[in-house]
Amino acid sequence: MSDWMTLLEVGGPLAALGGGAAYARTRHPGVYWSTVGLPLSAARLLGSYGSVMEACGLTVQPSRLRALAVRATTRREVRPVPPRRGTIRPTSTGLRLRLRLAPGQDPADVAASAERLRHAWGVHAVYVRDVKPGVVELRLVGFDVLRKVRMPRRSGGGLLRVPVALREDATAFVSDYRAIPHQLTLGATLSGKSMYLRHLVVGLAPQPVALVGIDCKRGVELAPFAARLSALATDPEQAAELLPVLVKEMEDRYDLIKARQGIAPSTPDEEITSDIWGLPDIERPVPIVLFVDEVAELFLVATKKDEERRDEMVTQLIRLAQLGRAAGIYLEVCGQRFGAELGKGATMLRAQLTGRVCHRVNDEASAKMALGDIAPEAVMAACSIAPERPGLAVAGDTSGGWSRIRTPYLSLADAAQVCRESAHLVPAVPALSRFRPYAPVQQVETSSPVVCPHPATD
Ligand SMILES: Nc1ncnc2c1ncn2[C@@H]1O[C@H](COP(=O)(O)OP(=O)(O)OP(=O)(O)O)[C@@H](O)[C@H]1O
Ligand SMILES: [Mg+2]
Repeated sequence: MSDWMTLLEVGGPLAALGGGAAYARTRHPGVYWSTVGLPLSAARLLGSYGSVMEACGLTVQPSRLRALAVRATTRREVRPVPPRRGTIRPTSTGLRLRLRLAPGQDPADVAASAERLRHAWGVHAVYVRDVKPGVVELRLVGFDVLRKVRMPRRSGGGLLRVPVALREDATAFVSDYRAIPHQLTLGATLSGKSMYLRHLVVGLAPQPVALVGIDCKRGVELAPFAARLSALATDPEQAAELLPVLVKEMEDRYDLIKARQGIAPSTPDEEITSDIWGLPDIERPVPIVLFVDEVAELFLVATKKDEERRDEMVTQLIRLAQLGRAAGIYLEVCGQRFGAELGKGATMLRAQLTGRVCHRVNDEASAKMALGDIAPEAVMAACSIAPERPGLAVAGDTSGGWSRIRTPYLSLADAAQVCRESAHLVPAVPALSRFRPYAPVQQVETSSPVVCPHPATD
């Protein structure tokens, strides 16, 4: 009987702890990491650092002086030396650690061993980043951060910089219009393109930026943000009226820059090297971000008559993409496919859109349209995105690399609320005022009765 009691007293709490840990690991991986995973992985790393580095071929022969010193002071065998390790810095999603490479070692050698290091230290993934010559940073990620996305607290936002998604190495993916002025987001239907757009709108809403939308799905994606939009076109006819106004606005801005520089107004636009950011604050026109959802709708025509309008719109979009940056006009284009089959001008416009984000696609050709010129592995990664994970995408980097990203979930109602709250920030762009969408003013709740009481006697 007493044996049973002892077993229950010891085994019960142990089983409860084990069960709790298993539950936390699947349902709350962040909590599991902070309480169990982090100490375990740190202990593994500290205990096995030298042997793991040796097994991965990341050690070098010790210098002759060191070998002599070891022989003179101890009787131990002289072992190869691993890269010098910095302090371990724990984070809420993993661990960070800097390594000083030995002469002759290459960051690519460490990167090539990332998979082996991840197994040796029992973490979800290991990423290697070049910090400065001779120093690399190992980023150990404790769990799959893209399963339930939570953006890091400090994610590097700013004017025209929107932390829009999370990278698989738990850093924020920032859409920076001043670094990458025009972006193309591709993906099959229900892959999460509009969610991506939603985050951009919400991120830009509190900033001094004019937001312009072209949403040929009759405005179902962008109309909820009407309160914060300076202009909205919900079909190709309206887009055909809006685009020339934007091109004219761009030309006026070039004239403004030219006037400031003292250049004759007859100088061709292409020869102006400066941009609106060189103008004094008081004169600088407000930046404009143009969102185009379902871009293919602008290209598709049913009749011969529409063809002329289509060609004009495509030319105007190409001009905006070509010359817009210096005038502070940026493009964010979304679509399901964007290939040569859309007709004249499609590939030319695509080539102008530097930033590439590819959500789940139905075929390899669509992934190639977005990422083909970045890397073949990026195309393969985009093709293997599962439909159960909407919002997951492959993003091309400015450095020529790529990474998996995922947007956090944001409901349309919450996004629309942010836009309503920042409605007073809509900047004055007179040229766009006639395209300003109608946004009903939000009812302000008051405690006064709806029906005025009448006195009982007159
Ligand atoms: N990051 C995310 N996390 C969770 N759910 C998401 C995420 N992104 C998108 N979704 C969900 O996936 C569904 C499709 O998203 P979305 O409307 O953005 O896709 P889409 O690519 O714009 O589709 P379509 O081409 O039909 O417009 C929505 O129900 C949305 O709530
Ligand atoms: Mg959509």
